[in-house]
Amino acid sequence: VFRGQVTLDGPSGTGKSSVARAVALELGAAYLDTGAMYRAATVAVLDAGVDLDDAEGITRAVREAAIGIGTDAATERVTVDDVEVTDRIRGTEVTRAVSPVSAVPEVRRLLVDAQRALVADAAAVVVEGRDIGTVVLPDATLKVYLTAAPEARAERRADQLGVTDPARIAAIAADLRRRDTYDSTRADSPLRPAADAVTVDSTHWERHQTVARIVELARERA
Ligand code: C5P
Repeated sequence: VFRGQVTLDGPSGTGKSSVARAVALELGAAYLDTGAMYRAATVAVLDAGVDLDDAEGITRAVREAAIGIGTDAATERVTVDDVEVTDRIRGTEVTRAVSPVSAVPEVRRLLVDAQRALVADAAAVVVEGRDIGTVVLPDATLKVYLTAAPEARAERRADQLGVTDPARIAAIAADLRRRDTYDSTRADSPLRPAADAVTVDSTHWERHQTVARIVELARERA
C-alpha cells in the first residue's frame, strides 16, 4: 500500500482533476482539490458583493465563509455556508473571478492553513492545485508538475464542456491563456514547478496512461 503525499500542480486544462482523482482511487489515498476551495471562496466573495479590487473586502468575505469540502476521491460535493455550490463553482462567473480572488495573499494564507489541516491525518493523500509542491506540502513524497500543449488543453476543456464550435474553442483557449498568465505572474505563490518536481507532459497521452505513469512514480517512492 502507498503511504505518503502526492502533489499534482500545473496549469488549467491538463485534465489534472480527473487524473488526480483516478490516481487517488488507485493508490487508495485521500484526495483534495484545492482549486475547488479557491472557487468556493470566490462564491463567497461574489455573494458578498465585494469589488474584485478590494483585497480587504475579499479577505473578510473569505474569512467569514464556511467552506465545506471532502477528502474522498469519490465525492465532489462542495458547500459554502452549508449551501451546495458543486455545479456553480464550475460556471463562467466563478471561473472569471477566481484568479483575482486567489491572488490575495491573506486569502492564500487562510486556505493553505485549511488545506494542511484537511490532509494532516491522512496516511496517503493526493493534493492538486498550483502551489502544492512549492508551498502547501514542501516535504511531499512525490511532486508532479502536469503539463500539456495549449491546443491540447483547450480541446480537452472543450470536450469536457461539450463544445464543438471552433470560435468557442478559440475563446476557451484565450481564457486558459489569460488564467495561466495571471496565475504564473502573481507575486504570491505563482504557478511554477517545485525544484524537485517530476514534469509529466500529457499532450500525446490518453488519461489512463498519465494516471499509470503517476501511480508508478508514487509506488517507486513509497
Ligand atoms: O484548478 P482550478 O482550475 O479549479 O483552479 C481555479 C483557480 O484557483 C486557478 O486558476 C488559480 O487561480 C486558483 N488556484 C490557486 N492555487 C491552488 C489552486 C487553484 O491559486 N492551489
